[in-house]
Amino acid sequence: MEKLSKNVLFTCVLIIISLFSPSHAHNCTNYPLSANNIYKECNNLPTLNSFLHWNYHQSNHTVDIAYRHTGVTTSNWIAWCVNPNGGGMIGSECLIAYRNSTGLLHAYSSSITSYATKLEEGPLSFRVPKIGAEFNNDEMIIYATLELPNATTKFTQVWQYGPVSGDSTIQMHSMDRDNMRSIATIDFATAKASDTITATTIKLGSRNRKKNVHGVLNVVSWGILMPVGAMAARYLKVFKSANPAWFYIHVICQSSAYIVGVAGVATGMKLGSKSPGVVHTSHRNIGITLAVLGTLQAFAILLRPKPDHKYRKYWNVYHQLMGYSVLILSIINIMDGLDILDPGKKWKRAYIGMLIFLGSIVVFLEAFTWYVVIKRKWQSARELNGSSNA
Ligand SMILES: *[C@@H]1O[C@H](CO)[C@@H](O)[C@H](O)[C@H]1NC(C)=O
Ligand SMILES: *[C@@H]1O[C@H](CO)[C@@H](O)[C@H](O)[C@H]1NC(C)=O
Ligand SMILES: *[C@@H]1O[C@H](CO)[C@@H](O)[C@H](O)[C@H]1NC(C)=O
Ligand SMILES: *[C@@H]1O[C@H](CO)[C@@H](O)[C@H](O)[C@H]1NC(C)=O
Repeated sequence: MEKLSKNVLFTCVLIIISLFSPSHAHNCTNYPLSANNIYKECNNLPTLNSFLHWNYHQSNHTVDIAYRHTGVTTSNWIAWCVNPNGGGMIGSECLIAYRNSTGLLHAYSSSITSYATKLEEGPLSFRVPKIGAEFNNDEMIIYATLELPNATTKFTQVWQYGPVSGDSTIQMHSMDRDNMRSIATIDFATAKASDTITATTIKLGSRNRKKNVHGVLNVVSWGILMPVGAMAARYLKVFKSANPAWFYIHVICQSSAYIVGVAGVATGMKLGSKSPGVVHTSHRNIGITLAVLGTLQAFAILLRPKPDHKYRKYWNVYHQLMGYSVLILSIINIMDGLDILDPGKKWKRAYIGMLIFLGSIVVFLEAFTWYVVIKRKWQSARELNGSSNA
């Protein structure tokens, strides 16, 4: 038994370590660019298969950049922008490249002042002495020199790509998750500039705090307390010494999970009502369903028949079915929520790690419970035999 639990633990640790080890990323410092590799720094941008290579000249506060977007075709446009005022798309000062009606790759600058932009050519608030573009295989590259505005080297950068129609007009980019997260900060001067920050961490402030509160409340309640309470009910019951302790543990876990969980759902509804136009319908509906099922479970406790009542076994089946549905829906919705809030891959990995951890405890305890139950049956059968023989 001890050896088995050691093995289970060892496997868990291995799985958790492998979840946290970094995925195999491109090392953009080794990438040969055709423009004589003048770029000392480079940065794997966090989304959209994009890379920024640059060289900063402190003496004249200019930066030479090469923005490389892989996995595109000649019917795509690409854009890389800085936003000197720190926002997202609006206020961005962009460098754009696409194949225009003459069949040549055209690179130009464009300031974005509205969401209805057609990326019209125009000057930026700072000078761009040099700009050009090239296309190789499946990647488009914009080369440019920027005379950086203000006295800072730290900017918000935004990058994007989208389709170009048959008559060479630029079409709107998609609204997929990755297209909405292509924002980060960059500091051209420091060598550590390659650390990017995703949009959610840039948009600090009260809304972000509310999102974090929403996430934490729900992960703690539906994600941790509920399954632990369910495990207490299923597995502690077997031990005679844990009676009636398992019942109190179960009730305390589930009722506090319910209270915190409903508060978590409420924060979600409030967040949803404050962001019109952003709809996470299934996340919201599952959240409401969970609150309803949780409430039904709470009432079911009050209406529970006595242990020897003839309806008690039906009640047990009902209570357990509802309980397992809540657990499954919770996992689905927490995964969905982690995708929506996107607090960074490590949080999703941490949650998956915790599920695997709880899952392996369940497997272990399930096996152990069966072992104990079968052993008891066997023993009582033998005692019965023994007494009938006597
Ligand atoms: C990328 O390659 C460079 C040069 O070979 C090396 O100095 C650097 O440590 C590598 N970075 C990573 C993250 O592997
Ligand atoms: C800025 O300075 C660097 C060297 O310090 C020089 O190579 C570059 O041409 C200068 N750029 C402009 C636009 O003056
Ligand atoms: C197409 O791009 C080329 C290269 O930048 C440029 O010289 C030409 O004026 C552009 N033509 C049109 C119609 O935009
Ligand atoms: C940077 O300069 C622009 C234009 O000169 C100005 O509007 C903006 O407020 C400045 N931003 C900062 C952070 O100083």
